Amino acid sequence: MNKGKGTVGAIKGLAIVVVAGLGLGAALPKTQLALIMGKIVLDYKGIQAQLATAQLSDPAKADQVITLARDLKENALKARDLVPTKITGNATEFVAYQVKIDELVKETVDLEAAVQAKDVVAARAVVDRMTTTRNEGHERFK
Ligand code: HEM
Repeated sequence: MNKGKGTVGAIKGLAIVVVAGLGLGAALPKTQLALIMGKIVLDYKGIQAQLATAQLSDPAKADQVITLARDLKENALKARDLVPTKITGNATEFVAYQVKIDELVKETVDLEAAVQAKDVVAARAVVDRMTTTRNEGHERFK
């Protein structure tokens, strides 16, 4: 008899649990690594945005990209010392993680060199490598 009401009640109950769950998720503190990654993504997006339009012959624009590349490098070096939650306690995976982070660090150096050379095509190619490194890093360690 009360089947209809019961179903509605169950749906409402489920909705409340889902909304509460989302709220809790938002309130959960981020890991140190997630906070650093949040900084890395700002640098990465800034670099992408600059290179989409920038003429690297404009020294001010070139300087902006170099500043972002150096900031990304500093943040990557901080990330290098932090252990991703997924691989906690796995020393072999941590070595592999640091190797992957080192690739990202190398790419920031290559990016700076391309910008110094005012070579926007080479600079964009380095950003593509960064994207691959990010995807591989996330696939294995996130
Ligand atoms: C340009 C390169 C990269 C960008 C833009 C990037 C961006 C991000 C973002 C936006 C997050 C989510 C942060 C959050 O939850 O608020 C994240 C998380 C994460 N990233 Fe990256 N990432 C990059 C490279 C890498 C690389 C190379 C690795 C591994 C070698 C890596 C490993 C991780 C891990 C493990 C997490 C999860 C953090 C945790 O444990 O809480 N990322 N990244």
